[in-house]
Amino acid sequence: MAQQSTRHAPEAWSSKLGVILAVAGSAVGLGNFLRFPGQVAANGGGAFMIPYFISFLVVGIPICWAEWAMGRYGGRFGFNSAPGIFSVLWRHPVAKYFGALGLLIPVIIYMYYVYIESWCLAYTWYYLTGDLDLGRNPALYNAFFTHYTGMREHGAVFKDGSQAAFRFFLLVFLINFLFIYRGLSRGIEKFCKIAMPMLILAAVAIALRVLTLPEQPMPQPWQESLPQALPASEWHRLQALALNPETVPEGFKAEVEKTIGEHLRHQLHFAGSEKSHAMVLPPSGFAKSQAAYALDMAELRAAEAHQRLQAWLKSERTRISEEAKSELRKLELQELKLDGEADDNSQLRTAIDRSRRGLLPKPPAADVDGIEQSFRAVKGASAYGDPGHLLLREAALQLAEQPRTVANGLGYMWNPDFEKLKNPSVWLAAAGQIFFSLSVGFGIVLTYASYLRRDDDVVLSGLTASATNEFCEVCLGGLIAIPATFIFLGSAFTMEALAGSSFGLGFNTLPTVFGNMPGGRWFGALWFALLFLAAITSSLSMLQPAIAFLEEGFALKRRVSVAMLGLLTMSGALPVIYFSGNAVVLSTMDDWIGTVAIYVLATIEVLVFGWIIGIDRGMEEAHRGANMRIPGFFRFILKYVTPSFLLIILGSWLVDALPAKLAAIHEQPEILLTVVYLTIVFAFLALMVAIAGENWRNNGKGEREVDL
Ligand code: ALA
Repeated sequence: MAQQSTRHAPEAWSSKLGVILAVAGSAVGLGNFLRFPGQVAANGGGAFMIPYFISFLVVGIPICWAEWAMGRYGGRFGFNSAPGIFSVLWRHPVAKYFGALGLLIPVIIYMYYVYIESWCLAYTWYYLTGDLDLGRNPALYNAFFTHYTGMREHGAVFKDGSQAAFRFFLLVFLINFLFIYRGLSRGIEKFCKIAMPMLILAAVAIALRVLTLPEQPMPQPWQESLPQALPASEWHRLQALALNPETVPEGFKAEVEKTIGEHLRHQLHFAGSEKSHAMVLPPSGFAKSQAAYALDMAELRAAEAHQRLQAWLKSERTRISEEAKSELRKLELQELKLDGEADDNSQLRTAIDRSRRGLLPKPPAADVDGIEQSFRAVKGASAYGDPGHLLLREAALQLAEQPRTVANGLGYMWNPDFEKLKNPSVWLAAAGQIFFSLSVGFGIVLTYASYLRRDDDVVLSGLTASATNEFCEVCLGGLIAIPATFIFLGSAFTMEALAGSSFGLGFNTLPTVFGNMPGGRWFGALWFALLFLAAITSSLSMLQPAIAFLEEGFALKRRVSVAMLGLLTMSGALPVIYFSGNAVVLSTMDDWIGTVAIYVLATIEVLVFGWIIGIDRGMEEAHRGANMRIPGFFRFILKYVTPSFLLIILGSWLVDALPAKLAAIHEQPEILLTVVYLTIVFAFLALMVAIAGENWRNNGKGEREVDL
């Protein structure tokens, strides 16, 4: 293999469909199913689609065509990675160093992406084994996620026997390198040809399931408030006890503690091995009785409910009248004292009536009855403190809820909020989503396209791969996560889930949704398997540019280049896993490389295409062998609009966000260390590029076209 490196690309795609599926596989990933719905809901709902589609037309598609055309051009000179490709596009000694960004970006993103990918495989496994069948209490899934990923503190993943996350990571890391070792067409292409149709089928199946879900009943406040693990019959028994004057307050409290305690013990006993006990309970839970743990949870939920109500009231997306909002605030502020002596609930009833007037024009009678009954239960429950207030707050939240139907769930995500469009950060988010999702500006498409032949079509292929990505993102990603969360958990919870990280939505919230769904365990397994397939086709594409570079720059054998890249990516992945408290290293890499560096490389690429090669030559190159013509106005877009759009976005980022980012580097040593590490990797890659450039100069590589 080594001696071929100066003649022509040692690898090639075996079919047209294969290359399109591989590029689409690189594009379709966690960004489509997790990041996209979060971005839409947080940035104006349906209105977000305006900057989103404008970004798709102005930056996504044009840069995608430019990358395909430039990559194929570089391939004609025997280059398959950005440094070499840049050096033939722009014959200047500095060009190849810009290309080093096309190695840095995919390599660094791989370091954290592969870790999240391994969570997907682990969750699939835990669903299949039943370890993630934890009932309907969101707190348990939260505890599982925090424990599994070690987000509570650094090093948690490596502590006392809980190294499952590390083992899954090693497995997924190995699987990736195995495919890469097999090569482009036998590894990546073959895998994508199987995985892409499978993942689209799985996504269609889940989307159909979500869209055909029947309306879910509003949860009864008393079922929401304490751990939800109890069967309905138990809740009814407790409720009956609460309503019986002879057992209130002492008998009720004892009974609640006993029943919940026993139920949890029972549930934990059957949850599986010691390992799953450890995952479900936070460390302090071991020291306490399970009943005390359950009550802690109730109190925690009280505080959460309070926060959710506040956030819900403040949110711009809350579409209820100001009058109704102030009624709810009053209800919240009244801090009603539910003393056991009060024998009627007139105070409560007035509050309910007043708040209901503004919120539910025609409240179903059953809801009102349920809420009133729950307030009577509060009378007993209040004897032991906070849960009483909790019930009140939950009830207030539920009064303000829209019925949990598919239509309302879709409305929650898609109803346009045009006000948001005035905010520049929404435009920035839209362009960022397009880049991340299409894998544009990563340097990946340059590499993939370089394996094409001189007259292979790039225009229609680029469009087809991008259209496949948009179908998966808008039509499938947009129909699953948020509508499902809304239907089962309500708008307040959906909003809360979105406020966290984009990945939290998938791992924290959706398991609770599956816990509420008939057959949820199997849908959970299918969902995480789908995420795993989507992620692995993307992570494989992140490794190929560096492999290609090592082989063409140093004439290394496949075994050696794979081993070197393995060591380099492991050196970054280990800190990602170790410094797991709040995922600080992961987020820093994602900020600086997954967001900023992508903008920079995309801007460089479009300037090279429109100005250095020149738009006329660039378009001519793109049209060679093309199955369709690029509409004429794209010349103007590529030359003027795309670079201006990107430069404005970059400029506003420098003004708005850079000072805070720099301050964070000063304040947090982990962030500083990560930035130092990124700089070292970039310097190392630049050095490698310098040596490779010397090798190419010595053996005349890149000076003339090679036969393909
Ligand atoms: N394009 C890939 C994704 O969407 C990176 O996840």
